[in-house]
Amino acid sequence: MKESNLEYISKFENLDYEQFKQLALDPNLLPHEKVGFPGSYRGGKEPLIWQDIQNKMSNLALAEQIILDIGPGCSELPHFLLDLAKKKKSKVILCDSKEMLSQLPDEQYISKIEGPFPGCRQKLGTYTGKVNTIIVYSVLHYVFGEDNVWHFIECCLELLAEGGQILFGDLPNYSKRTRFFNSIAGKKAHLEYIAKNNTNADPMKNQPPNSIFDDSLILSLVKRIRDKGFNAYILPQPDHLPMGNRREDILVERT
Ligand SMILES: C[S@@+](CC[C@H](N)C(=O)[O-])C[C@H]1O[C@@H](n2cnc3c(N)ncnc32)[C@H](O)[C@@H]1O
Repeated sequence: MKESNLEYISKFENLDYEQFKQLALDPNLLPHEKVGFPGSYRGGKEPLIWQDIQNKMSNLALAEQIILDIGPGCSELPHFLLDLAKKKKSKVILCDSKEMLSQLPDEQYISKIEGPFPGCRQKLGTYTGKVNTIIVYSVLHYVFGEDNVWHFIECCLELLAEGGQILFGDLPNYSKRTRFFNSIAGKKAHLEYIAKNNTNADPMKNQPPNSIFDDSLILSLVKRIRDKGFNAYILPQPDHLPMGNRREDILVERT
């Protein structure tokens, strides 16, 4: 029997670090599926996401930088990063599972550190206070089940050089999602979803497992980062990004 769209999407729900390893090695999956995204969320959208990341992280345009990507996965985003870094003569450190890292190229300017972060941070010890750019895109909400998010963030802050930037990107915000589904645009999107998937599912009743990420958590993380002496800002995602109506980013800068 043919798999329904809802069955297809449910394959990517409730993922954890171990399950990502299996996805990475599954030859039947497309690159964005290996990192846990169904086609409707990521298919053809990664150039737009990469542009948004570059707009937010001005350090990426600089030459001879040290860049750390925690949880790069193996879809298009790390390839865009590696192409840019090669042109800029920057060094890139990739930290993910061995299985994910095995899908990415090996070159002299690339170092691979087997995660999970921050458990693996001893291997990054020589970079304390030296990393110019840290990308943590669509990763932080997977840390929740396995480690302490604040500990993860503190370990990132320790690595950052003066003038450095961190993007904790693509954070689901359950409060923002609720505001969207209560809006006229959200109600229209819900009706379209019901018609397309032939379901009565109510997104307001179907609370996603990562709903712990909400306004209060995101605002408190920003406050704690600021209290540690870093600038931190909540940035929206543009409307043309697939989950711009429910996700947002935290940009951190060390002065
Ligand atoms: C949803 S994917 C995002 C991949 C990529 N950043 C992107 O947006 O296309 C999450 C990735 O984070 C990795 N990951 C999850 N927890 C991690 C941790 N604690 N340390 C390093 N990588 C982690 C997973 O293996 C997976 O590759």
